[in-house]
Amino acid sequence: MFLPTTSLLLLAASGAVATFPTRVLFQSPIFLENIAVRPSSQLLLTSVVSPTLHTLDPTAQNITFDEIYTFPNATALTGIVEYRPDVYAVVASQLNSTTRVAEAGSVVIWSVDFTSGTPIPRAVARIPQSTLTNGLSNVPGHPDLVLAADSHLGAAYEINMRTSAMRVRIQDPAMAPGAPPPALGINGLHAHLNHLYFANSQLGTFNRVSLAGGAVEMLGNITKFAVDGTAYDDFAIDEQGRAFVGMHPGAVQLFYQSKDGSWVQETVAGDTNGSAVVTGPTSAAFGRRCGRHTKTLYVTTAGGNLVAVDTSRQT
Ligand SMILES: *[C@@H]1O[C@H](CO)[C@@H](O)[C@H](O)[C@H]1NC(C)=O
Ligand SMILES: *[C@@H]1O[C@H](CO)[C@@H](O)[C@H](O)[C@H]1NC(C)=O
Ligand SMILES: *[C@@H]1O[C@H](CO)[C@@H](O)[C@H](O)[C@H]1NC(C)=O
Ligand SMILES: *[C@@H]1O[C@H](CO)[C@@H](O)[C@H](O)[C@H]1NC(C)=O
Ligand SMILES: *[C@@H]1O[C@H](CO)[C@@H](O)[C@H](O)[C@H]1NC(C)=O
Repeated sequence: MFLPTTSLLLLAASGAVATFPTRVLFQSPIFLENIAVRPSSQLLLTSVVSPTLHTLDPTAQNITFDEIYTFPNATALTGIVEYRPDVYAVVASQLNSTTRVAEAGSVVIWSVDFTSGTPIPRAVARIPQSTLTNGLSNVPGHPDLVLAADSHLGAAYEINMRTSAMRVRIQDPAMAPGAPPPALGINGLHAHLNHLYFANSQLGTFNRVSLAGGAVEMLGNITKFAVDGTAYDDFAIDEQGRAFVGMHPGAVQLFYQSKDGSWVQETVAGDTNGSAVVTGPTSAAFGRRCGRHTKTLYVTTAGGNLVAVDTSRQT
């Protein structure tokens, strides 16, 4: 989650041509925060201004934005991730989206199980000390575990979705905001192979750390982007290990490792100075067809646009 100022949202595209073909699939009436793609290819969408989980079929001729479930005692939904086939973890809280602070005691990790055909919600764990639990990740090879980013504490929690056990798995200054709210530290986080990748919005860094622990490695930063309010948000990693990172006010940044081992950063959609298409990119997820990942990257935005980016081009 990252809430750009109105002036940044209104910045028009400067005419730069997106490197990857990009189109707006749908304009939601509300801020879109996070996304999961079901094996059926349908999308599940969260918003920091609504406690209702929505669904949308990106293959439909006339796309509609349909309600799935409204979580009790919540005003906002942040991260969502599939941790078992067609079973999702979702973060609900009473969040003030201006101050970016949730009521202490209101942060709850839920499970929503779609395997029977009807979504079955279940409250799994409360995170009493958290005042902002943001992105979620699954843990490859550990189908009971979910990792959750605490943007204020600067930590990644591990939640066991079967037993409800919860602990701080990693806490590091590279995950902390280094400033009081509304500053956000760790925002999106995703485990890939044996690393945990994460974006720190306030510090302007994209990083990874071994899931076994150890030193955080910075893969890129925003120092060369001039515009006020530039910040990394949530992201998706493809099967080749390339990371597509939302960057406010209006771009998708691709991070990939070059042959010499160094990390390269490129703008592949929108514009680093602001975009009328990629209007405050909050998260991203790859499409699926018959259960397999596709090259279509769906990007949610604070402006409500749901954007499809064709990532077939090789780097
Ligand atoms: C899509 O919407 C248009 C306009 O509302 C309507 O004419 C058309 O029949 C709809 N198509 C489908 C497949 O529902
Ligand atoms: C909602 O909050 C109220 C007051 O704190 C509490 O009594 C109730 O059990 C909560 N409901 C759920 C479903 O958590
Ligand atoms: C959020 O916090 C601000 C500043 O304290 C306050 O003015 C506003 O009313 C709060 N919003 C909600 C929805 O509670
Ligand atoms: C930010 O990245 C640039 C390369 O793009 C690098 O030269 C610089 O040292 C990095 N800044 C920090 C604070 O590490
Ligand atoms: C963004 O704006 C800055 C300052 O106006 C300018 O120097 C830079 O070239 C712009 N970048 C792009 C990608 O348009």
